[in-house]
Amino acid sequence: MQSEKTKRLELELKKIYQKHGKRLPFHGWHHIEFVHSKSLEFAGFIKANIFLVESAVLCHDLNYLVKPNSDPELGEKLRRKILINCGYSLNEIGKIESIIMESHTAYRGRKISPEGKALSDADSLFKVLPISPILFSNQYIIQNKVDIQKLSKKITSEQNKLLAKNIYFYIPAVRKRYLPWAKTNLTLWNQVSEALKDKDVLKLISK
Ligand SMILES: [Fe+2]
Repeated sequence: MQSEKTKRLELELKKIYQKHGKRLPFHGWHHIEFVHSKSLEFAGFIKANIFLVESAVLCHDLNYLVKPNSDPELGEKLRRKILINCGYSLNEIGKIESIIMESHTAYRGRKISPEGKALSDADSLFKVLPISPILFSNQYIIQNKVDIQKLSKKITSEQNKLLAKNIYFYIPAVRKRYLPWAKTNLTLWNQVSEALKDKDVLKLISK
């Protein structure tokens, strides 16, 4: 059962996202809801602390409300303010912050808490859903004011090494079910990078 604090946090964040969501066609409430639901399912596989997983998931992408194309550090102040308003202690906020940092794609390593694994795997799954390159990649480009070159460079530089280290997904049951999707998605993005070296492709996408 959801705790009173996470219930309050969810309601509060939903209000904030409804107000500012138009600025977040990729990392909006639809993304938070998906990662929330999947992370709870994944947390059950490894008995991660549900209260901490939910709290971290609900506010893990607040930095995108502060500044487009930013890292989670930029959301720390806003997160703290919202969490304090929802009755969280400083000790809980510290734990939530650490889960968010270790789960960030660019910072991920082998050593990560069970709560970080649940958030990380659910967040990664959103990226590699077969529908994501079709429906959401262009939304990422619009939201973060980047071009396809920047996006493909970010994806390939951050994610190929996670696949090589076998930590694209941390939880064995998640890896077994979804790694083929991750591989297909990364093959696509590696081919996007390759295609972007072709002068005629570049001409095709230039104004
Ligand atoms: Fe996310």
